[in-house]
Amino acid sequence: YDTKQPQYSTGDSTSFAYTSTRERIPVIITQGIDDVHRETWNLKDEEASKEGKWIISELARLKHELQHDRQITPLPDLGESDVEGYNKELEALGELKWHSAPWLYSECYMYRRISSIFQQTQKWKSYDLFARQKMSTFKSSRPAVLELAARYKEIVTELESKHTIKGAKTQEELEQAEQILFVEMAEICLWGNATDLSLLPNMSYEDIQKLQGSEARKASEKNIVVNDLDKAFKILIEAQKSGKKDRRVDIVLDNAGFELFVDLILAGYMLAAGLATTIVLHPKSIPWYVSDVLPHDFAQLINALADPQSFYMALSDDEKHAGKTATPLTDSEVSNLKFLFDHWSQNHAEGQLVLRPNRFWTEGGSFWRLPKTAPSLVEDLKESELVIFKGDLNYRKLTADATWPATTPFVDALGPMGPGSGIRVLALRTCKADVVVGLPEGEDEKLRAMEGGGGDSGARKWAWGGKWAVVQFSDGKA
Ligand code: F6P
Ligand code: MG
Repeated sequence: YDTKQPQYSTGDSTSFAYTSTRERIPVIITQGIDDVHRETWNLKDEEASKEGKWIISELARLKHELQHDRQITPLPDLGESDVEGYNKELEALGELKWHSAPWLYSECYMYRRISSIFQQTQKWKSYDLFARQKMSTFKSSRPAVLELAARYKEIVTELESKHTIKGAKTQEELEQAEQILFVEMAEICLWGNATDLSLLPNMSYEDIQKLQGSEARKASEKNIVVNDLDKAFKILIEAQKSGKKDRRVDIVLDNAGFELFVDLILAGYMLAAGLATTIVLHPKSIPWYVSDVLPHDFAQLINALADPQSFYMALSDDEKHAGKTATPLTDSEVSNLKFLFDHWSQNHAEGQLVLRPNRFWTEGGSFWRLPKTAPSLVEDLKESELVIFKGDLNYRKLTADATWPATTPFVDALGPMGPGSGIRVLALRTCKADVVVGLPEGEDEKLRAMEGGGGDSGARKWAWGGKWAVVQFSDGKA
């Protein structure tokens, strides 16, 4: 259940694993420390404040160990089910040090270790040290959110009231129009992944907006190196035509904020168009890779849409200090956002939009292990017409974060999740790490030869920055 192909290591100087561990991860921990510091500062409860200080010292210790390439130590056993797995693997890997470890394991361990620090307290158990950042970047994506809300309302209203899409007269035309919209919504959903916080800790408001508008999306289509969306649509439309009553689509979520917003745009569209009858969303259970969705983030997003005017008018302390003022939404903007709220909360209330956490998603291994360590989750996923895996980390886990040649077929890199798994996999991934598979012969070389692509350095730099994407499908048949 593990690949024989070696995995990316934090010791390989040409890998993103190397740079990431030495430069980005310490910044992420520092931001976490700052957050807890701010929170502690405002506390009146003495016990909580004492614990806050202890958390800060533990986070600082973790950062020190990492930066000074100390040995990775076992997680404290607080009775949680996943600790044994982490610690057994650590033992099997021998004396593991931060700067020469399998990147997938060591990075997951880092977030898991942070979680265990909070678990050792009384007052901070459910605290999310990244929550502040998640909500503030969602706020910064206001122009794109408003643009999408207007478009969504138009499409969904037409589908629900007239059971059609503008201009489509025959069944065939309707199907074509549905396909075009599916591709559009899925690509919006794909590029929503380019703005995650772990990769872009210092991104400005302008940068975020540039990545999110409809113009940017159109221009980005040529940056999807492999695009299997047509295959995925075919699966959904064929299931619909077969007359099957219950047709489920799963989304293994990635980031909160804007990305979750566009995931819901795609989910809501599939429900309205009858391409699915239920959508199951899989969030994480502990603060993960900075911006990943926790159940609480879903609730917060819905709450923001319930009263969008208050959400956008409320200023954070930082914004007040910077002398910022908020511009009120227009009536039609409020009404479009409320439309989203009504649609999604109705979907949720009627059981068509379900949140289903599982501790498997925050284990330290790849998805090659799914059949062995989480057999009931596999059985559950087999019930789905299509399982969409969002984002970079999910892609790394699907492909075991191994050093495959770029022309390795996607289905081969999936291992036990590939042929014969009975699971239809669709990866929607903007590339933010080293591993890439399923490329046509010569494509990797071509991209490396472009400016900033890595050239002859041995590093696949083109795949590090979220500029390029792959959309890959596997039908899970034997
Ligand atoms: O690329 C840096 C990184 O932290 C990777 O470790 C991880 O794969 C990715 O960012 C997280 O991105 P995403 O949110 O798309 O999974
Ligand atoms: Mg993420």
